[in-house]
Order: sequence, then C-alpha cells, then structure tokens
Amino acid sequence: MSAPALEVTGLSKAFGGGLGVAGRRTPFLAVDDVSFAVPKGEVLGIVGESGSGKSTVARLIAGLMTPTAGAIAVDGRTLESLGRKERRSVHAEVQLVFQDALASLNPRRTVRRALAAPLRSLLGMPRGAAEGRIANLAGQVGLDTAMLDRYPHELSGGQAQRVALARALAASPRLLLLDEPTSALDVALQNRVLDLLQSLKEKLGLTYVFISHDLAVVSRIADTVAVMKGGRIVEHGSAAQVFGRPQADYTRLLLASIPGNRRSCG
Ligand SMILES: Nc1ncnc2c1ncn2[C@@H]1O[C@H](COP(=O)(O)OP(=O)(O)O)[C@@H](O)[C@H]1O
Ligand SMILES: [Mg+2]
Repeated sequence: MSAPALEVTGLSKAFGGGLGVAGRRTPFLAVDDVSFAVPKGEVLGIVGESGSGKSTVARLIAGLMTPTAGAIAVDGRTLESLGRKERRSVHAEVQLVFQDALASLNPRRTVRRALAAPLRSLLGMPRGAAEGRIANLAGQVGLDTAMLDRYPHELSGGQAQRVALARALAASPRLLLLDEPTSALDVALQNRVLDLLQSLKEKLGLTYVFISHDLAVVSRIADTVAVMKGGRIVEHGSAAQVFGRPQADYTRLLLASIPGNRRSCG
C-alpha cells in the first residue's frame, strides 16, 4: 500500500501567552492534537465554525507556520525529518488556495506575470517555456487567454479564483489545500468552481484538503469529513456517515443550521 498523500499526527499550534510570565494570558491552542490521513486522490473536507482552527491547520501543512507539536508527512515524507532543501521541494508539491483570491494577487501585476512568477521561481523555467505553460494553465482552469493581460481589479470574483487556482497549479502540485475557496462566490459560481475542482482532481490526480464553514459545499466534494471545534476534531468519518448519521452533538447542530437543510444524506 502506498503512503497517504498527507498524514498529520498530533498537530498542535499555540498562540499567545508570551513566556508564561505571571499575569500573562496562558497560551491557547488554536489547533489541539489534530490527526488525520488523506489517501491519494481523495478529498478531506474540514468543516467547523469560524475560529475553530481550520485555516491554522492549512497554514501549518503549507509550512507558513511552525507547529507547536506534531508531525506532518507528505507522501510518506515527514517534514520535520527533512533538510531545508528537501522540505522546500516537498512544499512545492503542496499549494494553498485562499478564499480571497483577489487579495492574494499583486494588484500591479497582470495575470500573465502572476502565473509566470512561480514557474520561474519554483521551477526555474525559461521565458519561452513559461509562455506555453501559462497558456496551458489558463486552459486548465477555463480562463480565456484574453484575461492574461488584465490586472486583478479587472477580474470578476470567479475569474480571480480561477487565476488563484492556475497559480497554485503552476508548480504541478500533488496536494491542494483549499481554504474556503468558494465562500466569496455566489451559489451559481460556487457550483462552477466545484465542478472545475472535481475535473482538475481527476485529470491531474490531485488530492485535496477542502476547508469550508459551509457544509452543503463540502458535502458535494468530500470523500471524508473532519468536524473541528475549538481546535479539535470532534468527528471524523466518511462524508456519508458524518452527514447522514452524525455522532457528535456539535455535528448535528451544524447540520441543523444549513438553510433549508439542502442536503439530507451522503
Ligand atoms: N497568527 C495568529 N496569532 C494569534 N491567534 C491566531 C492567529 N491565527 C489564528 N489565530 C486564532 O486561532 C483561532 C483559529 O483561527 P483560524 O485557524 O483562522 O480559524 P478558522 O479558519 O476555523 O476560522 C482563532 O481564535 C484565531 O483568532
Ligand atoms: Mg479560516
């Protein structure tokens, strides 16, 4: 059996509290002993209310923050055991996509330049090859090539999210961490981006961690679901089980809060 695309063991992240000097706040655990594994080609959905620690989990996996405790293994390679250079190459395989695609783009750079940057810096691609790859990336995410010479403010929300996705795909990652990728979009656009994510996953053999506070969205794409509350996973199972036969009271509460309970079973 091959290693999971991602395995997280006992992951914790503490914030605040300084050095524990008397009178200071004690550090609080934004992520508290989180463990899960995502087999290759699958989608793990992480759901939970705002502040439950979802984005912190994504940032830790992406290497933007150092865990207080725990281990992260990508494709069987434990990050903590790797040297700086190897860790960088593993991190090129793991890309984070944010909710606010517009804010993640440099306003003074055209889409073409935004896509060229990772091709140069992560892959060292020469200009000519990068041009071909940029057109190819635009095609993959369904972005009209006319958009390549636009600036971020000239893009619609859906187009900006496609650019963010294309940029994440530039270095041919194997794992995408999608943090509320559709939350800024209206329902029709959400569905189109979900369809796009689904087809990219199949075409490129990707694995996703899909984070959202919106259970209806997660139920459309996830194979397994982890429910977070206060930094901990309170329920974890197949999407059918978590949505159809929730065990934790908190999951039932979340499900009951879906408007019109749009989904009823896995
Ligand atoms: N860099 C930080 N410094 C201090 N506290 C943080 C930081 N990032 C997140 N937090 C806190 O950690 C908790 C979890 O945040 P986050 O992971 O963003 O939750 P979610 O994505 O589920 O809304 C929140 O209480 C948040 O205020
Ligand atoms: Mg968040």
